[in-house]
Amino acid sequence: MSNPEFRPGLADVPAAESGISFIDGKRARLEYRGIAVETLAKESFFEETSWLLLKGDLPRQKELADFDAALKEERCIHFRLLDALKSLPENGHPMGALQAGTAALGMFHPMSNVLNPANNWEAVIRLIAKLPTIVAAFHRLRVGHEAIAPRQDLGHAANFYYMLFGKEPSAAVTRVLDACLILHAEHTMNASTFSARVTGSTLANPYAVISSAIGTLSGPLHGGANEEVLDMLEEIASAENAKTWLVDAVATKKKIMGFGHRVYKVKDPRATVLQDLAEKVFAETNRPYAYNIATTLESAANEILGPKGIYPNVDFYSGIVYQNLGIPKDLFTPIFAIARVVGWLSHWLEQISNNRIYRPEQVFVGKSDQHYIPLEQRT
Ligand code: ACO
Repeated sequence: MSNPEFRPGLADVPAAESGISFIDGKRARLEYRGIAVETLAKESFFEETSWLLLKGDLPRQKELADFDAALKEERCIHFRLLDALKSLPENGHPMGALQAGTAALGMFHPMSNVLNPANNWEAVIRLIAKLPTIVAAFHRLRVGHEAIAPRQDLGHAANFYYMLFGKEPSAAVTRVLDACLILHAEHTMNASTFSARVTGSTLANPYAVISSAIGTLSGPLHGGANEEVLDMLEEIASAENAKTWLVDAVATKKKIMGFGHRVYKVKDPRATVLQDLAEKVFAETNRPYAYNIATTLESAANEILGPKGIYPNVDFYSGIVYQNLGIPKDLFTPIFAIARVVGWLSHWLEQISNNRIYRPEQVFVGKSDQHYIPLEQRT
């Protein structure tokens, strides 16, 4: 039998039929359920966009009020889950804590099957509501502080900031954080979403689905890139050095972090929105030097990498915004997960509504018909 064609990285191979989001990589267009992400970042807020992604349409007033109330109600985590977070190494990466915390959450809420829509919806609410609490609690504990209990009078983004720092964010900071959550909430068939769908296709419980997606997101070629962007900007050190650094990096075939995308061959629309929001925040706070380096690097890259269709992706500016808000670098990817959990759950619900277990083919390139040689005869 002839081998099927192998596409490394499954490039251009459809892995599912999905109605959740859509990308036109040539027109810099990203839509959630048909609505442009720029519009949502401007007009909507995270809770409303989450409903849109999960349910398919914008919520009516009562639907939104009930959803919002249910999320607020579910923000607390069990004290024994907090104890589990306390026992993790404080110098471990918070993505590890989030993955472990999410898997542990599933042990507090066992689900023997995923065939009951009411139970599934409860799990959806619980996961969206509790992930920020796990991230903030682990961060507080690892730096020697008490975890801060969530508040029910704050929106999703503002409450997360409050649980991290113990103070309420300004309206402008809330707006930028909320928009960052919207921009990261969903992005078609990326690696972590594929991972969520594969795990979901085994009818594993949603806590297993989300912890597996968190592990996939943690890699530097995916969600981990925004941390590495800041390391790169630190290495470049000055705006004057940006072009020389880039020329050298391209010549030595280094990957420029925060640049390039499998689908976008123009600037990622989320990077454009984020840059605009960043400018607004910096008008209130201060314009970080890393931002000057980043914009100079982008101009140089337009010339050098632009002809290859390599432009900034969403991660190029998100780290600079978070750093400006005083958020530690290793929390950038967990914040990505707090947002993307909505996309993962939307895909999980879509997957199990018309499920077939994933079982792809392989192209066999190994040996066959080998003899077993007893150990003493092996040379
Ligand atoms: N810097 C320099 N060259 C690049 C970059 C980059 N960031 N991205 C792609 N290229 C080049 C490759 O070297 C390759 O060149 P070649 O054909 O001469 O060998 C060509 O473009 C194709 O690159 P691939 O890595 O094969 O593209 P792929 O679609 O597999 O990867 C990816 C996409 C992983 C995002 C890649 O662009 C990359 O590694 N970027 C840096 C990491 C990053 O920013 N990741 C975040 C992605 S967005 C997200 O997850 C939210």
